[in-house]
Amino acid sequence: MNKNTIIYFIAAVAATGGLLFGFDTGVINVALPSLREQLQLTPSQESMVVGAVLFGAMFGPFISGFLTDKLGRKKINIIASLVFVVGSILAAIAPDTNSLIAGRLLLGLAIGIVAATVPLYLAELSPKDKRGRMVTFFQLAITLGILLSYVVGYIFGEAENAWRMMFWAGFVPAIILFVGMLLVPESPRWLLTKGRNEEALKVLNQLRTPDEAVAEYNETLKLLEEEKQNKSSWMELFMPKLRIPLFIGIGIFAIQQFSGINAIIYYSTDIFKSLFSDSQATLATVGVGIVNSLATILGMQFLDKWGRKPLLFTGLIGTAVCLGTVGLAFLFESSLPAGLRQMMLVGGIYTYIIFFAISLGPLGWLLISEVYPLKIRGFASSMGSFNHWFFDLMVAISFPLMRATSLGKNGGIFFIYMIVVLLGLFFAKFVVFETKGLSLEDIEKKYN
Ligand code: BGC
Repeated sequence: MNKNTIIYFIAAVAATGGLLFGFDTGVINVALPSLREQLQLTPSQESMVVGAVLFGAMFGPFISGFLTDKLGRKKINIIASLVFVVGSILAAIAPDTNSLIAGRLLLGLAIGIVAATVPLYLAELSPKDKRGRMVTFFQLAITLGILLSYVVGYIFGEAENAWRMMFWAGFVPAIILFVGMLLVPESPRWLLTKGRNEEALKVLNQLRTPDEAVAEYNETLKLLEEEKQNKSSWMELFMPKLRIPLFIGIGIFAIQQFSGINAIIYYSTDIFKSLFSDSQATLATVGVGIVNSLATILGMQFLDKWGRKPLLFTGLIGTAVCLGTVGLAFLFESSLPAGLRQMMLVGGIYTYIIFFAISLGPLGWLLISEVYPLKIRGFASSMGSFNHWFFDLMVAISFPLMRATSLGKNGGIFFIYMIVVLLGLFFAKFVVFETKGLSLEDIEKKYN
């Protein structure tokens, strides 16, 4: 098989993890109406059903943090895919709310594991000039999973037992991930950390030209040798020399999540209902899903060409302008002509999604897969991923609460998100460094 075909096959399999991430986080939006009706959810049960996935996902990184470096990138994803299978079945056949919450917790756990390990696995298998694009496959898959969940919701929305059908739909990619993960190779870099040098070279030869394979092999071995002498351990992540990558893992996800992305991804239908009928609002949400996926494809073209920092600046400025526009549409609700208000709200949200999808979306997962030293990469990227779920949960819980207050009515929430994004400009300028075109080993040398 042609080397590129193998690489893209690996990317497609690994990215199925991203699809499940997007599907299982997005589906709750569209499943809620039928869940409310059939299970007679109280408001607190409702927030538990919504939050269970994010809460479960917070624990995934703890499991993967220690096991990814021990068991390898492949085995941990096989385990995660089995958890996805069990979680999907449990959620789909749940006889009552508690079993549903248990199923959603398991799904979250699996999402937390793949989110921490798949980008890392992709980064380690990619040639350096394609790494941005390859890891962004993961983000593309997340957006396709979100879109799929909206479309499934639209199709089954009126069916009897609609929510069960929607959860069953998540079972299919879980099986695909399981089978696919059995077929893909282990990360050569991880194999080298375990002294399985021959296997590592064999995998590299499948993916690179012979010269590139030997060069990468030697470079990684040399780096590992140096690391051995330095006796590094995961505690090193908290040492002064790794302060910048530590801050990157916290900062990029704080800004990504507090830019309010999931206020839109999880609640856009509710927002659109203030303008449209119920079915139009659902369609507008499907539109959000489509724009999100298309813009992600666009972003993939630029990450390795323009570099990470220019895209981050573009995205931050663009999202800030859009958030301000949406905020103003709420603030001047009564004085603006209806048509203009509609344009500011819908146009603002759609354009926001475009700017997010070319920058903050892919960059979060990309940066945490590439900025850490090999020896602690599994642990460190898992910790980055934990930050993501923690901030995500905070936004998911606070948005509906804030909406009910004056902050919701006068657009204050969106102005808060805008301020976070503007502060992100300082982070982009002073903390993030350019990784375009550098090998993972070159990046690592920066800290020594
Ligand atoms: C974020 C998710 C978000 C998605 C939207 C991802 O990078 O991690 O929280 O829902 O982008 O496309």
